[in-house]
Amino acid sequence: TAADLGPYRHYMQKEIFEQPRAIGDTLLDVETVGPELFGAEGADVFGDIDSVLILACGTSYYAGLTSKYWIEAIAQVPVAVEIASEYRYRTSVPNPRTLVVTISQSGETADTLAALKHAQKQGMKQTLTICNVATSAMVRECKLAFLTRAGVEIGVASTKAFTTQLVGLFLLAMTLAKTKGRLPEEQEADLIRSLRHLPVAIQAVLALEPQIISWAEEFVRKEDALFLGRGMHYPIALEGALKLKEISYIHAEAYPAGELKHGPLALVTDQMPVITVAPQDALLKKLQSNMQEVRARGGQLYVFADAGSNIRSEPGVHVIRMPEHYGWLSPILHVVPMQLLAYHTACARGTDVDKPRNLAKSVTVE
Ligand code: G6P
Repeated sequence: TAADLGPYRHYMQKEIFEQPRAIGDTLLDVETVGPELFGAEGADVFGDIDSVLILACGTSYYAGLTSKYWIEAIAQVPVAVEIASEYRYRTSVPNPRTLVVTISQSGETADTLAALKHAQKQGMKQTLTICNVATSAMVRECKLAFLTRAGVEIGVASTKAFTTQLVGLFLLAMTLAKTKGRLPEEQEADLIRSLRHLPVAIQAVLALEPQIISWAEEFVRKEDALFLGRGMHYPIALEGALKLKEISYIHAEAYPAGELKHGPLALVTDQMPVITVAPQDALLKKLQSNMQEVRARGGQLYVFADAGSNIRSEPGVHVIRMPEHYGWLSPILHVVPMQLLAYHTACARGTDVDKPRNLAKSVTVE
C-alpha cells in the first residue's frame, strides 16, 4: 500500500534506499570472521575444502561472479561460477572437496535448487547457501547458511538482496582466507571496519540521485545501451545492463572493457550511450584507453568516476563523481548508481517498474 511506500514511488526505489539499513542489519553480529558465521558445522566444512563452486541465477549469479574476484585474490582459493540452469544439465568433473555455494534471494528458484541437488548427487556434500529467506528450501537443503537481512524484497528487480549477498560473499572470502592462514589480524580488522562503514558510504552515493535523474531523462529515447567495466567491476556492469533491460525495456549489454575491440565497438555510434564503471583502481589507465576507443567512434560516455580520479567532463563525456575509491568493497558502492539509473529511466518511460512484463520475482518452475 501507499503507506508502506512512505515517500517513495515504487518498492524498487524504497528498496534501493533501504540498502544502508539492510547492510547494517546483515553485519549486526559480525565482529570477526570465522566458519561459525556460516553455521554449527562451519569449522568441519571449511577445514576440508580446496575450491568453491558457485551456483545461481539472474542477479544472484552476478553477485557470485563478483565474489570470484574477491575469493581468488584474498583467499587464493579457486572459484568457478555457473549459471544454475546450465550446470544442472552438463557433465562436469565433481570434486568432493569443493564447497558448493548457492546464492538466492528467495531460496526457492527451481534451477538453483536442481543444480544444488545435481552437485549433491555427484558426491559434493559440502554445501552453503547465501540466502535471504530463513525458511526456504535452499536453507533446508544446505549444510551451512549465511542469511542476508535485506528484509522482504517486493520489486521484481533485485537491489537490496544483491548488495547484502555481496556482503555475505565478502565475509566468505575473508573466512576462507582466515582458515588458510592468509588473513593477518590487522587486515581482518581493517576490512571489518570498511564493511561496517558501508551504510554511511552508500548514503553518500544515494545522494547522487538528482544527477542520475538528469541522465535518465536523456536515456528515455535510447533503444540500446552498452555497459563497460573491468576486473571486479565487470560483474557490476553486467548487473547494470540487466537492471536497465528488465525494467526500462531498453536493450542493454555489458562488456569487459578490454574486449570492446573484439566486437561491440562495431555497434558504437553517436546514438549509443556507453555507461562506464570507472573506479580509481589499478585498471583505470587501461579503462581510459578503452573509453578513448569509444570516443573516437562518436560514442557518448556516461562515466561513474571516483573522487580524485582525473576523468573530466568534456563534449561526449558525462561524469558523475562517486565518493573516494572504496578498495575491495568498491563494487558494492558502484552498483547503486546502476540501480538508480535503471529505475529512473524506467520511470521516465512509464513502465511498470515493480512488475516488469513477462518476469516473476521468484521462478519456482523450470
Ligand atoms: C528472478 C528475479 C531476479 C532474481 C532471479 C534469481 O529472475 O526476477 O531478481 O535475481 O530470479 O532469484 P533468486 O531468488 O534465486 O535470487
